[in-house]
Amino acid sequence: MRAFELAGCELGVATAATQIEGGHVDTNWHRWAAAGRISDGSSPARASGHWQRVTEDTALLAELGIRHYRMGVEWARVEPRADVWDEAAIAHYRDEVAGLVAAGVRPLVTMHHFNLPGWLEEAGGWLNPTTLERFDRLVAKLVTELAPWVREWIPINEPNVYATNSYLFGDWPPGQRSLGRTLSVMAALAQAHIRAYQLIHQLQPEARVGSASHLRVFAPANPRNPWHRLSARLTDHLFQRAQLHAMNTGQFRLPFRQPRGVRPGRYYDFQGVNYYTRSTVRSIGDGVAADVDVNDLGWEIYPAGLIEVCRWVHEAYPAPIYITENGTCDNTDAFRSRYLYEHLAQIAASDLPIQRYYHWCFTDNWEWVEGEAARFGIVHTDYPSQQRTVKDSGRFFADIISHRGVTEDAYARWVAGQTYPTNRGAR
Ligand code: BGC
Repeated sequence: MRAFELAGCELGVATAATQIEGGHVDTNWHRWAAAGRISDGSSPARASGHWQRVTEDTALLAELGIRHYRMGVEWARVEPRADVWDEAAIAHYRDEVAGLVAAGVRPLVTMHHFNLPGWLEEAGGWLNPTTLERFDRLVAKLVTELAPWVREWIPINEPNVYATNSYLFGDWPPGQRSLGRTLSVMAALAQAHIRAYQLIHQLQPEARVGSASHLRVFAPANPRNPWHRLSARLTDHLFQRAQLHAMNTGQFRLPFRQPRGVRPGRYYDFQGVNYYTRSTVRSIGDGVAADVDVNDLGWEIYPAGLIEVCRWVHEAYPAPIYITENGTCDNTDAFRSRYLYEHLAQIAASDLPIQRYYHWCFTDNWEWVEGEAARFGIVHTDYPSQQRTVKDSGRFFADIISHRGVTEDAYARWVAGQTYPTNRGAR
């Protein structure tokens, strides 16, 4: 059976402020681009020019029948200098969310998605203990201003990815390589999430708050090799489980220490899952097995993993599950429809309470250190002209929404002819 129904799971798309808005804003990423750290030399100052095209993009969401939109806010726009709010920028976001609601699209708003104002990065970012209070103030400001239209919030996107890329591998701003600092930033972000959870509920009791956690399957390269098995478990614990446990429960286990003033509790109303890939582990870190399906960035395509991660997370933290991101780098839209189909089929066949699925990304997005070279959108952005063109995968997505599932016709039209690239050698 190729057709399936998607009962109980609403579909939407996701974006992040720095990755689509464009504009000369003083963020950590604009500075990183100016320092020549982006592989294709691009800058988030261009991206998809969404800041200027909010009305057009909202109309396109509505035209495609998309009723759920996960979007981000750029902290550096809202607070361009320490303690100075930019009321015009806040009004812009207010208009954006009001426009979405008027068009029948429900916003889910992310407050921190790898982006810091330049002045805060200079002050030490999340290594500076006062950043927690600064973030509280941002959270309070956004909730106060946007609450008439927004009820669902994600304070922090993928805190594990941000901490490791920025403080362990040194590829992202501020380019540090220190395990101690990585753990401090991971712990600070978990605390920031807990504080935000409490604050949002004080200000807006009916709010729903969760994290968008980047979760992977870590599989030992050789399941009979005890070192591979141990490495897979350790990577899993250090990269994702320990921090997620701290964020969701307020209990900071090893390698963290319990921060003063943080009480055990339940700090999630839904569990957000960003799922992209499986890692094959030989020693602590990640790798990709040979002869598996991969995307254009070489990440393994492993649809069953979506349910594997949702299952462990649901057993540990029972709540409605939102797939807050899932998507793939496919520069020519040659296999995205198949990717979408196979991941949604997993959801359709599962007994887990997966209530939302947000595809990453709506338009092509500025992909951090890969810049404009890695395309994830269901809508193509021609960067020089900023023209949008709905891709075949976008048409397929709209068709799934309108039929509340995949029909035989849709399968034949968009999926049947697609195959994935293969990884020829293990990495
Ligand atoms: C991030 C996005 C990113 C996507 C694809 C996620 O880890 O939240 O910002 O564009 O993956 O790499």
